[in-house]
Amino acid sequence: MDKIIIVGGKKLHGDVRISGAKNAALPIMVSALLTPGVSTFHNIPDLVDIKTIKKLLRNLGAKIEGDSTVKINTENINNCEAPYELVKTMRASVLVLGPLVARMGAARVSLPGGCAIGARPVNLHIKALQDMGAEVELKDGYVEAKAARLKGTTIYFDISTVTGTENIMMAACLAEGTTFLQNAAKEPEVVNLADVLNSMGAKITGAGTDIITIDGVDQLHPVEASVIPDRIEAGTFMIAAGITGGDVRILGCDPSHLDALILKLRDAGMEITMIDGGVRAVARKKIKSVDIKTLPYPGFPTDLQAQIMALMTVASGLSVITETIFENRFMHVSELMRMGADILIHGNSAMVKGIPKLKGAQVMATDLRASASLILAGLAAEGTTELSRVYHIDRGYERIEKKLSPLGADIKRVS
Ligand code: EPU
Repeated sequence: MDKIIIVGGKKLHGDVRISGAKNAALPIMVSALLTPGVSTFHNIPDLVDIKTIKKLLRNLGAKIEGDSTVKINTENINNCEAPYELVKTMRASVLVLGPLVARMGAARVSLPGGCAIGARPVNLHIKALQDMGAEVELKDGYVEAKAARLKGTTIYFDISTVTGTENIMMAACLAEGTTFLQNAAKEPEVVNLADVLNSMGAKITGAGTDIITIDGVDQLHPVEASVIPDRIEAGTFMIAAGITGGDVRILGCDPSHLDALILKLRDAGMEITMIDGGVRAVARKKIKSVDIKTLPYPGFPTDLQAQIMALMTVASGLSVITETIFENRFMHVSELMRMGADILIHGNSAMVKGIPKLKGAQVMATDLRASASLILAGLAAEGTTELSRVYHIDRGYERIEKKLSPLGADIKRVS
């Protein structure tokens, strides 16, 4: 199994280009299921999760070609099942549920089960489909859903759910009548998906607000569309500049998706400036501690919580980091402590007391964003950090070591 070896202490300098957003590419590729024909999607990142969604779509009968530009032919969808093997490796596989019921009248999708960051149920996806008239049964660990045609209705999500909103928004495009999604997720990935669906002929308004209205149509048509830049990858590189005292230009990103992070990094003493095609992140002074609370967009993203915690471990002062989205997203804490970090967890908050320097150590990745946090810690630490279980990072960052090396990081992957 691969490992990533980092010799810390190098200031990062230079330009890095951001890839397409994993969490937008996944639902957008799935949206091709809503209509027969060939859809073309640009700016698809080269990630393990993208390979998994391709496998799942092929398993349903789709033909797929290409990497950064992907052509998906959904003429012959002949299977409505998302098997356990694929759903357990990637929870986002549950996104096929809504589109399959909407186009094929039926779907059988494995229940994902818990994961390293929390229980993550899909009860809200299921309840919404039932509200739209689907018959849903839970059998042998699978959700089995049927509906001759879904019916538009008003759906209220008890919790703002990103993939829940995406799943039901896709299903509602082909429903009879109008669907209102209340307390809908407002993430930029939801807006990107809504734009793609509208180019397919859907009638969606309000994406990006907490009420989305979808007027059902009888059919959609194939589309050519692009995926937005990955705000979490961009945010991770801004923090990389901060933790190494560097100066990095992050190109091809959309800073308007990162307001919460940018304002926090400025409070922490970094200079974040808008430049042509992205942002420049500079850390000239010692980082100051800031408090963080994760919230649904436009709040501070849970997907950057582990990374900002790495930064706070070497800041001056005490930072309180509160995780409100997932109940178990502090798995990186014990690994950061192996590198000398001073962190105390109390309920869903972590008290991080900044120390002058982290020390390199052997650490283990437990999930995707935790691995990014440990790489950031390794970049700042004295000595060598050896990160194992790096397959987690390959799910969501395109060869991260290949993007960090040209910035001056001493980082390599070994088998
Ligand atoms: N929830 C329920 N019931 C549901 C759905 C969600 O209780 O039916 C709860 C979850 O357990 C969680 C909260 O609602 O406590 C929010 O979860 P959400 O459904 O929004 O998460 P998700 O859609 O499964 C997406 C991203 C995650 C990201 C979260 C939060 C994708 C493919 N995944 O997950 O990304 O952390 O939104 O922003 O879009 C990552 O990229 O590392 C990642 C985990």
